[in-house]
Amino acid sequence: MVKRINSEIPVVQKKGLFAAQRQFLQHPINFLAACQETYGNTFLVNFFMRKLFITSDPEAIKHVLQTNNKNYIKDFGYRQLKLALGNGLLMNEGESWMQQRRLAQPIFYKKRLNGLFNIMVDVVEGFCENLEQSRGQSEPINLTRTMNVVTSDVVIKTLLGGDFANDNRDIQNTINHTQTYIVKRIREPYTIPMMYISGKHRRFKKDIGRFDKVIYDIIDERKKSGEQTNDLLSMLLEARDQDTGEGMNAQQLRDEIITMYVAGHETSANALSWTWHLLVQHPDIYKKMKDEVTSVLGDRRPELEDLKAMQYTRQVIDESMRIYPPAWAVGREALDTDEVAGHTLKKGEICFISIYNLHHDPELWENPEIFNPDRFNPEAVKARPKGYYIPFGGGPRMCIGNHFALMEIHLLLACMIRRFDFEFVPEHPVEMEPLVTLRPKYGIRVKVK
Ligand code: HEM
Repeated sequence: MVKRINSEIPVVQKKGLFAAQRQFLQHPINFLAACQETYGNTFLVNFFMRKLFITSDPEAIKHVLQTNNKNYIKDFGYRQLKLALGNGLLMNEGESWMQQRRLAQPIFYKKRLNGLFNIMVDVVEGFCENLEQSRGQSEPINLTRTMNVVTSDVVIKTLLGGDFANDNRDIQNTINHTQTYIVKRIREPYTIPMMYISGKHRRFKKDIGRFDKVIYDIIDERKKSGEQTNDLLSMLLEARDQDTGEGMNAQQLRDEIITMYVAGHETSANALSWTWHLLVQHPDIYKKMKDEVTSVLGDRRPELEDLKAMQYTRQVIDESMRIYPPAWAVGREALDTDEVAGHTLKKGEICFISIYNLHHDPELWENPEIFNPDRFNPEAVKARPKGYYIPFGGGPRMCIGNHFALMEIHLLLACMIRRFDFEFVPEHPVEMEPLVTLRPKYGIRVKVK
């Protein structure tokens, strides 16, 4: 029997103390998907003596992220992320967030992004040249690792005007360790004291220190060279407080840069990995996309206008991010009592928005598990309420890098598919790993032809 409290919101019932909590922590996506099947789009889960309000109801999401967004701050999970990313745009709140958002926004204006397109093309073409080494080899490549390296390169070269060439692999490893550490803190908060005793926290700090050094080197180099460029780093360096006239201090600068770097590459790399995973298993869709790209691009250097002409490729990306949303959930904490979807959320309580459940809700999507890019043809998009699909979140805290990401993913997919073919490796296990982002647990492996 489904227990209901406080109006009509069902409470997830599991046999055994903390059983629901344990399942949520171990396999959040499976758990949430199963709850959605039993309880619908909104339910409560007992979570460390508190009730977690979980929703994928488009109206409730709109209320929390947009209509009454001032009543919410980022939740406990984000605050753990702060240990690594500091007070950058993703984690900042209130006036200070607004000031930093206003500062960074112009970099992502369409016109400015168009100026970055050529740098992106250089990085992507260089990447494809390197990929030639893997062509024809019997050993499959780990596409997820490869995608992380190239998207990392794109962010560094377009936004920070730097080069991680020698450090890139080391940085990817550091990010993997720190993400695992932080997710453990979020999911198993009772283990936190032990982390300090066992030296885990010290190791984490050391990893962050190595990462910081790379960032500070980029900042120092730019300051020394005095080079005037149009990138994000220059804008951050030139920014002055309206009242005091002071520039950003080193810590804030570091926090903004590290946030942009981390938020700006793994999400895109995951979107690309999942897209390839879907494409190699759907030969008809693969062929349709390849035909489109070949007819639009041929062998020439891509131009910005080409992206618009490759509409089907864009639909493939949209559908892939529906099935595997790289940012699979966002959480908010209520500052004051609020009514959401008929439920009273008290001050300090958490609203956990499952983007994954929203994108897989059979009430909103026909056969939601089927990969069908036609769902995103222009007419279908027009006919559907906007709130059904939110891979980049919503409201004022919506992703600042959405156009940047789409441009990059579109370009990479097109340049890769016109030059290579990728083959499915059926024996390689593929499993979702919902950490901060939704990753393929063992990476996606493909053969390059
Ligand atoms: C497929 C790629 C991406 C996805 C799916 C994605 C998703 C998201 C989502 C869902 C949020 C909102 C989080 C919340 O409401 O709590 C967000 C915020 C953010 N994203 Fe992205 N993102 C992507 C790429 C990027 C890129 C390329 C950049 C930068 C170059 C970026 C930078 C940020 C930043 C700075 C924020 C915080 C914005 C704020 O709070 O003002 N993201 N992203």
